[in-house]
Amino acid sequence: MSLDQIKIPTIYYGRGSLKQLKYFKQKRILIVTDNIINKLYGDKIQRILKNKECLFFTEVLPDPLDKIIMKGGNVAKQFSPDLIVGIGGGSVMDSAKGIFFLYERPDKSLYDINPINYFKLGRKSKLILIPTTSGTGAEHTGAIIVTKSEGNQKTGLICFELVPSAVILDPKLPLNMPPKLTASTGIDALVHAIESFINKMNSDFTAPFNLNSIKTLFKYLPIAVKNGNNDIFVREKVHYAASMAGIALANSAAGLAHSCGHSLGSVFHTQHGIAVGLMLPYIIEFNKSHCNNKYKTILETLNVNYDDPASKLSNTIKSLLKEIGLPLTIKELDISKNDFESNFEKLTEYAYNDLATGLNPRSTTENDIKKIFHHAYNGQTIDF
Ligand SMILES: [Fe+2]
Repeated sequence: MSLDQIKIPTIYYGRGSLKQLKYFKQKRILIVTDNIINKLYGDKIQRILKNKECLFFTEVLPDPLDKIIMKGGNVAKQFSPDLIVGIGGGSVMDSAKGIFFLYERPDKSLYDINPINYFKLGRKSKLILIPTTSGTGAEHTGAIIVTKSEGNQKTGLICFELVPSAVILDPKLPLNMPPKLTASTGIDALVHAIESFINKMNSDFTAPFNLNSIKTLFKYLPIAVKNGNNDIFVREKVHYAASMAGIALANSAAGLAHSCGHSLGSVFHTQHGIAVGLMLPYIIEFNKSHCNNKYKTILETLNVNYDDPASKLSNTIKSLLKEIGLPLTIKELDISKNDFESNFEKLTEYAYNDLATGLNPRSTTENDIKKIFHHAYNGQTIDF
């Protein structure tokens, strides 16, 4: 797929829209999820799909291992579904994409997934994704973040045929997310919205999704963190804004906050949203020379006055992080200086080799990444 086109799945949205599942014509459905979501919604899904044949694969865990996705692929091959539904957070949706790929192409391995080949997916089944958290945007992308069983390194696989046929956005599903999860997933959405806006691949078609998402998240995410369980309106706003950020991300690209965030996740097991949120203010400062006009647009959208756009945007994001209880430095992740230094080479190498590094607006050397990590450890302003 050339990137000068926009791909957006059909979106069914609204309170209670989960029941849309019963209106799809397919009869044999593989539900990919995890144990928690199965306990919360398994019975409800079975009631909705009572006239269809369903099989649940519930073994997905956070940071999904390749071997679990391969196991799910084998389950699909035996069951022969005509519809695969992934319902859960980013790990579940990514796993569902991998299972869909392995089922459609039993002659291929997971690591054959790439953005160049045309795999003719979708001849046996369709893929539908239903997020139960508000932030990953995984329901719109063709990307899978998978953890290699050997070595524990996270790696990104991408194929545009893995963008699902449909997405269901039911704000009742994330209603009871705890505050910390609301904050970490919500900030991930904000990072998607900002990083894909400043990316060179951003276009007139994606920018409205970016700006609408940024504005909505700044307004409603702090309320969702404080009182989301009792406020379906606010949940709805954040759920849709997160998905809009996912659309923008899927049709543009992320940048260095994601490269560094993925590496923190691989080396120190930092939760994805916490890692990318923490890194974002530093990356905003690092990209200053290439993105000042974009920063002005964001600040004007937020009705924030500025002298130095990069510094103002960086500080505005830091204030939001503080307000929703997220860390601003690597030190605050309870990573000792010793631990940080002894893993520093690996941390830098993973970030430098991440797919998103080459897509960052300012070209980045390994030495730049080293300096960024050192500044982010102590909370120093990036001035190089
Ligand atoms: Fe992300």
